[in-house]
Amino acid sequence: MSARILDGVKLANEIKAEVAEEVRQLAEAGMRPGLAAVLVGHNPASEVYVRNKVKTCEQLGIYSEKITPDESVSTEEMLALVDELNHRDEIDGILVQLPLPKQVDAKKVLLAVSPEKDVDGFHPMNVGYLSTQRPGLVPCTPAGVMEILKRGGIPVAGAEAVVVGRSDIVGKPVAMLLLNDNATVTVCHSKTRDLPGVCRRADILVAAIGRAGMIAPDFVKPGATVIDVGINRVTDPAEFREFFAGDPKREADFAAKGSTLVGDVHPKVAEVAGAITPVPGGVGPLTIAMLMSNTVKAATSNATSRRTASCIVITSAFGARNLLSLVALNADDSCVGDREREQIPRFATATW
Ligand code: GUN
Repeated sequence: MSARILDGVKLANEIKAEVAEEVRQLAEAGMRPGLAAVLVGHNPASEVYVRNKVKTCEQLGIYSEKITPDESVSTEEMLALVDELNHRDEIDGILVQLPLPKQVDAKKVLLAVSPEKDVDGFHPMNVGYLSTQRPGLVPCTPAGVMEILKRGGIPVAGAEAVVVGRSDIVGKPVAMLLLNDNATVTVCHSKTRDLPGVCRRADILVAAIGRAGMIAPDFVKPGATVIDVGINRVTDPAEFREFFAGDPKREADFAAKGSTLVGDVHPKVAEVAGAITPVPGGVGPLTIAMLMSNTVKAATSNATSRRTASCIVITSAFGARNLLSLVALNADDSCVGDREREQIPRFATATW
């Protein structure tokens, strides 16, 4: 039996179409979402990722800026840049592409990003919101994994979920999201005893280790759903044959490019699993789609907070009695849209 393929390209296109519609409505109300992508240095993979992120912004109508500080940038200069972006109203989301050069303290830089603009969901404030089930910005790849399960019709509540890998960016947040959706979650790592045995318990197995083809068929319960987060480039012909011997499409790809991509899951797992994400074309496309979705989410809540803040200023400066006349005054202000004007009294009530 061959597993059902969970097509990430198709699901990402669905999400991007939904996001594009939200962007259109926000832009119509004068609140076009904006993303700043900061790329330092010339890491080829990072250059491709950032190029794709900016291109997707353009496709969806999101304003974007690619900022490329010099490779020799200091931590202090990065902090100053993030501070400037934190204060710019047209920038709703800030993405600092990782890895950063060695001389930059990446943790300090990520901590400086305003949690409201942290579209990567890496800020400790957003990590805390996720673990306490409060609304916040969720890391894009884990959010994409959950969309694949949801849109792929895979039940999560009550399922045994095993996550292999405990990174801050994927393993831990995906485990938290699965837990929040009522799965019974086990997180495995390099010190886990009997890894194949633990993985075989899984109804949902998420592989996020960064090791080509490590999850072998005997790690998988027949019929399980397997989500492969890994993207590993294979260049060694012997390794290539171990994964793809007898696959004419892959052989042609490898012959043409001298490399091919393989996930953390061995391709033969597709003969055991019930459903599986391919590599490429599985989780990868969802990561960018969720970044776009997070940017719209940030734009919506940033606009709400800006408006609430201005209501606090006007109501506390002039007293609540005069609020309605001030709302009327605001109505003459060309930078306030009809939809926003309607909201002002509501926000004022909520603020008080
Ligand atoms: N580098 C690799 N993946 C990511 C990601 O999801 N976000 C950022 N900012 N950098 C990365």
